Amino acid sequence: MNVIREELSRGGRTVVSPKAKKFRSVQPLAALRAVWYASIVLIDKPLPAGADPLPEPYANLSLGLDIGSSYVKLVALSRRPDHWALRHVALSPLPEGSIVDGEVMDSGAVADSIEALFTQLGLEERRVISGISGRAVIVKPIRIPTADPDELAQSVSWVAEQYLPSLDDVNLDYHVISTGEDSTEVLLVAAKRERLEGHLMILRLAGLEALAIDVDSFALGNCFELAEPEAARGTAALVNVGASMTNVNVLAAGSPRFTRDISFGGYNYTEALARELSLSVADAERAKRDELPDVDADAVDAVVGETTLELVDEISRTLTHFAGTHPELVPDAVVLSGGSSVLPQIKSSFEDALAIPVRLLDPLARIDLGESGMDREDLATLAPHLAVGIGLAMRGEDPEFNR
Ligand SMILES: Nc1ncnc2c1ncn2[C@@H]1O[C@H](COP(=O)(O)OP(=O)(O)OP(=O)(O)O)[C@@H](O)[C@H]1O
Ligand SMILES: [Mg+2]
Repeated sequence: MNVIREELSRGGRTVVSPKAKKFRSVQPLAALRAVWYASIVLIDKPLPAGADPLPEPYANLSLGLDIGSSYVKLVALSRRPDHWALRHVALSPLPEGSIVDGEVMDSGAVADSIEALFTQLGLEERRVISGISGRAVIVKPIRIPTADPDELAQSVSWVAEQYLPSLDDVNLDYHVISTGEDSTEVLLVAAKRERLEGHLMILRLAGLEALAIDVDSFALGNCFELAEPEAARGTAALVNVGASMTNVNVLAAGSPRFTRDISFGGYNYTEALARELSLSVADAERAKRDELPDVDADAVDAVVGETTLELVDEISRTLTHFAGTHPELVPDAVVLSGGSSVLPQIKSSFEDALAIPVRLLDPLARIDLGESGMDREDLATLAPHLAVGIGLAMRGEDPEFNR
């Protein structure tokens, strides 16, 4: 058992990658550039080109910080001429209850976990791209008359007024999906300012600065496009099953067409096991991971299976709703990620219920690992957790950041 697997299985200490060793180049990628969907723009003071040059080895280091309710994940990527390289990866568990339903309950504990990651990696770069999800974000496809970019922005905010109680409480952004002669299909993105400010406060407490705050399900989309460029040209339902949240993003031809965050994830499994088998939460977590001796394995499987049916039911309803609005976009596959996606029942139950192929995403598939000093085996257990963090780090290539 390697160090990461041990730490993860204990749900224990922070995991960091060892010092970088060597550089190995990979095959050029067919499609390198992810589409820059709307990012919730927070860059009120964009960095001027060439500002604050960081000494090697920190130059050109793009940090994605995924603050989940069970683990904080830090992914450091570097953009090389023809590929992305993983430089560092780190994961730190959060004390239970520090984040509930996407809401930060104990900002000190979260900031401490984040700070620990930076200290252990010895990173000087403090500018990160982070993400939010859940009820704080509204993503809505809308149709507006085709116009030039300035008028388009104006139309988007007019339309947004119809959907939102007040534009004063949100940051708005949008991404153009397709432009027709008469009408343009746009994905409207609104993020509650209160939540954004809370998120920024955590980052400040941890001594960090936000280059941008993205939306987790968009980051998931960017990661998928990098990992599976061919599949990303078709239609795929991305499903990221975390601890308290499942992010769904239906991506078609490189654009997110529909996103939904479902308040259901690994915690629901742990809770169900604790309740049904009269276990402590810690033991239920171990039972779920098949690491608790002297537990009735059949009883565990039965509870996990039933809980999975609830999740599958929610996803089915979500996809049926999407099919009602976009009958022409039938997903070719369901692509799973997130720490809970490794539960074997999830893949098989999804296959049975949805009648479309289901596979696990390998978020590292097209990323060169040589500079991280780790190989695929070292990262195998960590990989399912990394999809959102990788997508966040990829935003560092956004020309808007002038890095
Ligand atoms: N081997 C395993 N078997 C089953 N579940 C696992 C395993 N390893 C981790 N998990 C579960 O993965 C979840 C954490 O995944 P992830 O890091 O994607 O979530 P998160 O980003 O912290 O949470 P969220 O996004 O929902 O707030 C936890 O619920 C944990 O129990
Ligand atoms: Mg998550």
